[in-house]
Amino acid sequence: MEDKKLRLFSAVQPSGIPTIANYIGAIKNWVTLQDEYECIYSIADLHTLTVKQVPAELRQRTLELLALYLACGVDPEKSVMFVQSHVPQHAELTWILNTMTYPGELSRMTQYKDKSKKHAENVNMGLMDYPVLMAADILLYNAAVVPVGKDQKQHLEIARDLAVRFNNRYSPTFTVPEGFIPKMGANIMSLQDPEHKMSKSDANENAFISMNDDRDTIIRKFKRAVTDSENLIAFDENRKGISNLLTIYCVFSGKTAGQAEAEFKGVGYGDFKLAVGETVANTICPIAERKKQYLADRDYLDKIIIEGKEKASYMAQKMLAKVYKKVGLYTPERKK
Ligand code: TYM
Repeated sequence: MEDKKLRLFSAVQPSGIPTIANYIGAIKNWVTLQDEYECIYSIADLHTLTVKQVPAELRQRTLELLALYLACGVDPEKSVMFVQSHVPQHAELTWILNTMTYPGELSRMTQYKDKSKKHAENVNMGLMDYPVLMAADILLYNAAVVPVGKDQKQHLEIARDLAVRFNNRYSPTFTVPEGFIPKMGANIMSLQDPEHKMSKSDANENAFISMNDDRDTIIRKFKRAVTDSENLIAFDENRKGISNLLTIYCVFSGKTAGQAEAEFKGVGYGDFKLAVGETVANTICPIAERKKQYLADRDYLDKIIIEGKEKASYMAQKMLAKVYKKVGLYTPERKK
């Protein structure tokens, strides 16, 4: 008998232009996991509405994100790609899970607290409920594996708790998902403030490398990256700036921590930063070029998301029907 592959689910929000942190923490791994798992990759557009968006820009970024997935190597022949709002079962399962989630579980989430501070003028229910929608995303597809960066670990815990809670209250229904968090690069830091994570919504453009940045911009931003005055290129948890740059270098060059440290022994910070910038640009610039080509072919992008919607809907509908039945919602039987 042919071995059935385990299901894998992940998503990125089209909330800004993705950065190398989104690439390192998530999309890069999605590509390598495609052969081992049955992969479903979503564009989490409903999640972005928890923060005010300019509608026309959100629509454009949705397409750009799909083009980026393709440019990074997500293969529509192997993986399902779809837009979250195209499959209404995500919002429907969220409602059911909401009735089993306690406000205290959500209000203690780090991301909720951070975003409530950052968007104090718009602390809405969606912002708080964000992890439940994310749980619905994952549980709808019985995903066993969820590749994400470290910042999503807490949200993944809620998804696991909700799966267990539902299974205990009714009967085994949901797979309890495991996170796939990369050993190197799960928490890429800001280039300007290495105490904080790199974020695509940072107001300071020098803090992140966007997946759209050109070679000169990438090199300039790395040159300006905040480090220290020790002039020693080695991993050290007390020297977050240098450690972050070394991590980025290792991920993009494929070298180990030891190899990178040996390579830069005695090298000055200026030359090191230039080497990091060039290595990153060598990967990012061809991706940006391919992304532009995909974006120019709107029909192809639409075809992929329409097919993705069909495939995802089929799976989601089956799961939601099971859930509705288990919780006691009545469905009339069709008489022949
Ligand atoms: P989002 O769009 O904020 O980020 C997308 C992915 O990038 C990872 N990431 C990072 N990795 C390393 N270092 C960083 N500084 C960094 N910043 C972001 C994130 O961990 C994520 O993997 N809620 C999710 C999207 C989502 C989702 C899901 C993910 C919606 N539904 C279901 C998994 C499963 C988010 O906002 O990601």
